[in-house]
Amino acid sequence: MTTIEIRQAFLDFFASKGHQVVSSAPIVVKNDPTLMFTNAGMNQFKELFLGDAPVKYPRVADTQRCLRVSGKHNDLEEVGIDTYHHTMFEMLGNWSFGDYFKKEAITWSWELLTEVYRIPKDQLYVTVFEGDEKEGLPKDQEAYNLWKELIDEDRILLGNKKDNFWEMGETGPCGPCSEIHVDCRTPAEKQEVDGKILVNNDHPQVIEIWNNVFMQYNRLKDGSLQPLPAQHVDTGMGLERLVRVLQQKSSNYDTDVFQPLIQFIAKEAKVTYGEDEKLDIAMRVMADHIRAISFCIADGQLPSNNKAGYVIRRILRRAVRYAYTFLNFKDPFLNKLVPVLAGQFESVFPELSFQKEFVQKVVLEEETSFLRTLSTGIQRFEKFANTASKIEGSFAFELYDTFGFPIDLTDLMAREKGLEVDMEGFNKELQEQKTRSRAATAIDTGDWVIVNAGEEVEFVGYQELETECKILKYRKIIARGKEQFQVVLDRTPFYAESGGQIGDTGRLEDHSRLFQFEVTDTKKENGLIIHYLDLLPADLEGSFWALVDEEKRLSTENNHSATHLMHAALKQVLGSHVNQKGSLVNGDYLRFDFSHFSKLSAQEISEIESIVNKKIRQNISLKEQRNVPYEEALQSGVTALFGEKYGDYVRVITFDDHFSKELCGGTHVKATGQIGYFKIISESAVAAGVRRIEAITGIKAEEYIVNQQKVLSDLKEILKTPADLVKTIENLLEENSRLRKESEKNILEKSAGLKYELAKQAENINGINFIAKRIELPNADAVKNLAFGIKEIVPDLFLILAAEFEGKPNLTVMVSENLIKDRNLNAGVIIRELAKEIQGGGGGQPFYATAGGKNPAGLDSALEKAKAFILS
Ligand code: ALA
Repeated sequence: MTTIEIRQAFLDFFASKGHQVVSSAPIVVKNDPTLMFTNAGMNQFKELFLGDAPVKYPRVADTQRCLRVSGKHNDLEEVGIDTYHHTMFEMLGNWSFGDYFKKEAITWSWELLTEVYRIPKDQLYVTVFEGDEKEGLPKDQEAYNLWKELIDEDRILLGNKKDNFWEMGETGPCGPCSEIHVDCRTPAEKQEVDGKILVNNDHPQVIEIWNNVFMQYNRLKDGSLQPLPAQHVDTGMGLERLVRVLQQKSSNYDTDVFQPLIQFIAKEAKVTYGEDEKLDIAMRVMADHIRAISFCIADGQLPSNNKAGYVIRRILRRAVRYAYTFLNFKDPFLNKLVPVLAGQFESVFPELSFQKEFVQKVVLEEETSFLRTLSTGIQRFEKFANTASKIEGSFAFELYDTFGFPIDLTDLMAREKGLEVDMEGFNKELQEQKTRSRAATAIDTGDWVIVNAGEEVEFVGYQELETECKILKYRKIIARGKEQFQVVLDRTPFYAESGGQIGDTGRLEDHSRLFQFEVTDTKKENGLIIHYLDLLPADLEGSFWALVDEEKRLSTENNHSATHLMHAALKQVLGSHVNQKGSLVNGDYLRFDFSHFSKLSAQEISEIESIVNKKIRQNISLKEQRNVPYEEALQSGVTALFGEKYGDYVRVITFDDHFSKELCGGTHVKATGQIGYFKIISESAVAAGVRRIEAITGIKAEEYIVNQQKVLSDLKEILKTPADLVKTIENLLEENSRLRKESEKNILEKSAGLKYELAKQAENINGINFIAKRIELPNADAVKNLAFGIKEIVPDLFLILAAEFEGKPNLTVMVSENLIKDRNLNAGVIIRELAKEIQGGGGGQPFYATAGGKNPAGLDSALEKAKAFILS
């Protein structure tokens, strides 16, 4: 079976068992502060496990693109070295949300593996949770008994908490799990060592392929386990490993998942895969990493210097480094893999092929800039290694941190020189950095305290800005040392930050309206709308009024609707390749990032402004449709964004059916006339292939125009109200440049005259031609020219010039080269002494030095001091 067939067989199998097949969530996570990347298929269902959102389909299956390079699950250093860990991988999963439990999950997984995929039963082992006394958790006897019906008892192994109790992160849903392992060794190998003892022991041929988690608990902040409201099933099977088993390969990289990429690399590098382990590792690293990089970029996360962007940058650099060192790719190459990859995934994850030019361009740009740092890093390494007896931890860390050198490669480079890396020192630095960055972003979150029962939170902010409500629950957080409270209401008009639109601010009032509590921000976390308060009401139980800051909300709406109009105008003016890459909408302005390859011309900008303003004047009414089936919305030509997770039902915002139609959860003006006026205030580049526009609307745009107008009228007044302002300024500039040239010419002539005059005044002291003079020249350049001019015509020269520029004293010393050696005169040293006279400092070279200072009165004494020095 090909990978495509294997994936499809999984989805078909679970569809036949009543599962709804859904699409993968983006690999980059947006609404969860505990997670940067999707690291398991269950992430997108977290809120269903916790009971924070209603269950639409009790049975679901999918293939999810995952990344395990940060946080609790991190495989990065293994990737490429071994043959079965990856950065990005596909996780096939099936779920039950309060529906079936252990019996069906276990029976179906067995049926699929042994009957559909026909993996021989005597190749399989299963593991079951043995219990944990400290946690007060019993052995999973139920799972054990179920497996006993299906598999020889001596193939059921008990596992501890580390292997058989699955947790998503430090907190969150978790439960005992049952894994399925495959022993892919040869019969002879099996004869020699019992497979049982190799399970969960990092043997490359005895590997876990499927994990069945029985979600029963929520791990709280204090470490305790709280039973979940219902029991769920969460499973995950690594597609790449499954394919390798079914295609009977001994490495994931030998399957049709990776071979197209590897063969492409091998061909370009003019090597053969499978002949030299060092080269093979490099090819594996590249083939693996380009997948992670490409999908993250396609999902909207660009490489950058922090957070998720930095993780991607590191992965990319690791790949470039391997390519450079082992496969001799000295020019950017990785980007050429993007089209190959996009082709492979066209039918599964089409978002990549839609954006392949863009992704390729971003990768190319990153490679190009890293290759520049890389050679500097290598030079630094060479220099260090040539004089060192070992590679110190701090230096290895500098290479790692500043130049993006993976530690295993530094180690390798060191060994090639017969040196060792102080790994302990390196790890210490790494640990310290991690602690620092954790401390910088640490948010200490307490557990939820339930105030009133109730599950569903109603958002009423599309139609109301004030509502009566109750507090459902709250918790305390400490962020950057400051205590705050997060509060969940049963009904709320507060819009939670998302889709670029900032969260509402406003206040909660108690029912008597005597006490007010400021709401400083509103954010979304999984399915919840969270209000941030600095103070918590003393009496939480009664009902409250929730009021949104209306002025700020309305100007935010102006900017949000204007963003939609501009997005449509951009596509019209620049072309359909324009895709949103980032957006910020607040009460002051809008910022919009989009894919486009060149700077916008003034003409294009004014065309865009003109289209948007025309749409504003047409006062087009908002058409808001909620609960439109996703497919139907797409058919109607709506603009959807890559990297955004849409539900089955979406909200469509339309301003003129033939103009702007977007999937959007944000709040908008009732009619475009409210926006008033739209003005672009800047256009710039943010990254390769991504442009940024900032624009303003409404009152801000009015203020802007008024200000511009004021500058104009001030100018006119200064210039005595000329008939043609532009022409007048051009004339002034022309005249100014002519005058400047003339003045420079005058200075040159003057200093040429001075040169001969001063040369004549040289005084011979002990065989030194000594000149000390106060001169009047307008700037340091002119003095410098003069000094060099004199040096050309006066031999054995010691020259000191004193000048003043706009009231500031200046000294210049010039010494003939022969005097530096023969008479031990050093301009740089001498000037430091003389500068004291003018209360200043200076320096330079032995033949030429200058000093500036604060006390012009000291210039003459400096000249005298110089003479005394030469005389002595
Ligand atoms: N969530 C489980 C895992 O990732 C299935 O292994």
